[in-house]
Amino acid sequence: MIKKCLFPVAGYGTRFLPATKAMPKEMLPVVNKPLVQYGVEEAISAGLNQIGFVTGRGKRAINDHFDVSYELEHQIAGTPKEQYLTCIRSILQQATFSTTRQTEMKGLGHAILVGELLVGYEPFGVILADDLCIVEEGDDSVMEQLVKVYRRFGKSVVAITEVPEDQISKFGVIEAEELEPGLYTVSGMVEKPRAEEAPSNLAIIGRYVLTPDIFEALRHTEPGKNGEIQITDALLKLARKGRVLAYKFRGKRFDCGSVDGYVKATNYVYENVYKKEHD
Ligand code: UTP
Repeated sequence: MIKKCLFPVAGYGTRFLPATKAMPKEMLPVVNKPLVQYGVEEAISAGLNQIGFVTGRGKRAINDHFDVSYELEHQIAGTPKEQYLTCIRSILQQATFSTTRQTEMKGLGHAILVGELLVGYEPFGVILADDLCIVEEGDDSVMEQLVKVYRRFGKSVVAITEVPEDQISKFGVIEAEELEPGLYTVSGMVEKPRAEEAPSNLAIIGRYVLTPDIFEALRHTEPGKNGEIQITDALLKLARKGRVLAYKFRGKRFDCGSVDGYVKATNYVYENVYKKEHD
């Protein structure tokens, strides 16, 4: 059983400056909910209700968001506005939240290693909240899709999507053999390759289920691309032992770490999710 989900949220979010100068990128709202809340709801939908945040300086708002605000509760109790707090209250009842800090931004791999303290020696999910994933009504969330693959094979699973050639250099890209439609055994992976050097057009997005041997691999992973400890480099070590699968998820993914993706996500969620819920 997987119960824990790690949220590395220590990055600076420089692409959103000045909005992110004093506010975490993960608290940017997509319509009426902050990005990180979509991620936490996704984790809970997959049965991962022990949430761990790897935060950094200036990220206190994330912890405050997943806590009771007595003043606000008191102020709106018994008024029609109380309904606006229903969904966050239900999240607080369904999950527990803990936090540790990454004091230096040494990369996503390093942030996950810092999270070992919260995870211990068990398999766990990882959600990058700035990748917003929306599935068709009634379908499993993307994390749930990965958890189902993990349950069948007991290996680490990364979510992948096909990307056009001009986008490939922004992602970790896999080399893999198809096991069954949409499911691949990974044999190689490269972080942010040049298009002509990419082993495929299958890119890793911000959803992972990882087995705990990833921590040992991360401990022995040297800084790679951009001088950061890359999760891709550590996963490659497990992949070489046949321990990594890739799953072409069902659903839409928006890169909310970029202004363009964020605006697209906002329009999509407003038209296809928010309006339906508020009709
Ligand atoms: P990004 O590189 O997309 O995020 O990292 P960033 O650094 O916040 O954004 P920009 O590029 O400056 O605009 C992907 C994810 O990994 C986390 C980030 O918070 C983000 O969710 N991360 C990255 C960490 O937690 N620690 C790190 O050292 C690096």
